[in-house]
Amino acid sequence: MNAQPPLEAILRWYLDAGVDEAIGETPIDRYASAPPTPPPAPAERPAAPRFAPTPEPVAAAPVESSAHAAFAATSLAELRAVVESFEGCPLKLTARSTVFGAGAVNARLMVVGEAPGEEEDRQGLPFVGPSGKLLDRMLDSIGLSRERDVHIANVLPWRPPANRTPTPAEVGQCLPFIERHIELIDPAMLLVLGGAAAQALLGKSDSIGRLRGRWLAYSSTRLPRPIPALATYHPAFLLRTPAMKRDVWKDFLMLRKRLEQKN
Ligand code: URA
Repeated sequence: MNAQPPLEAILRWYLDAGVDEAIGETPIDRYASAPPTPPPAPAERPAAPRFAPTPEPVAAAPVESSAHAAFAATSLAELRAVVESFEGCPLKLTARSTVFGAGAVNARLMVVGEAPGEEEDRQGLPFVGPSGKLLDRMLDSIGLSRERDVHIANVLPWRPPANRTPTPAEVGQCLPFIERHIELIDPAMLLVLGGAAAQALLGKSDSIGRLRGRWLAYSSTRLPRPIPALATYHPAFLLRTPAMKRDVWKDFLMLRKRLEQKN
């Protein structure tokens, strides 16, 4: 007799139980994993509840609370502490790390993306996953190094669960953090990656296809002057759509030209 039930029977059992969707980003070999811990002796078994209670949803704090805290920060170290101790954004509950920013603090170019992905969440650093590797190569192609010439951050410091699109409320709540971050770095120019970041920072509703390829301005009442900003396609999009690298190359040439002019 075959000791293991046939695969089809297992799958059918899952289907009958209502499991008709594979979730999770990485497959789990349950045959290879450790055997389950035996249940506690009956005396120790809790009587109730039988199922873990659903956690209460955490209400997002009003935007004023993140804005008040962010704009009170007078240095990057203070701002980092404010973001790390902020408990008002539900995204923080599901993220492993607060991904604040990295790179040169006196950089003339600041790069702003949308939100940390899986690898960024693991390492606590921005753009260190596959799209970050591509970003490094793109920067390198115009002679820039992320450690020496660029400061990098995201609109959101916390990874949305399973990389879902952040809600407008989450973006609005985190916006004061990146706004203050830009003010404290005070770069000569901004490179904004992807439509979501461009729309959030530049206050536009156009698609990234329309926003890219021309100099725009990032303004804030707390800055002495608007900062020239160039939006372009996100490297994650380029990994899926390599044909668009051609347009991004043109944008990077515009960036290089402007960086050279201001030297
Ligand atoms: N995508 C982003 O927008 N930011 C990161 O840090 C990584 C991926």
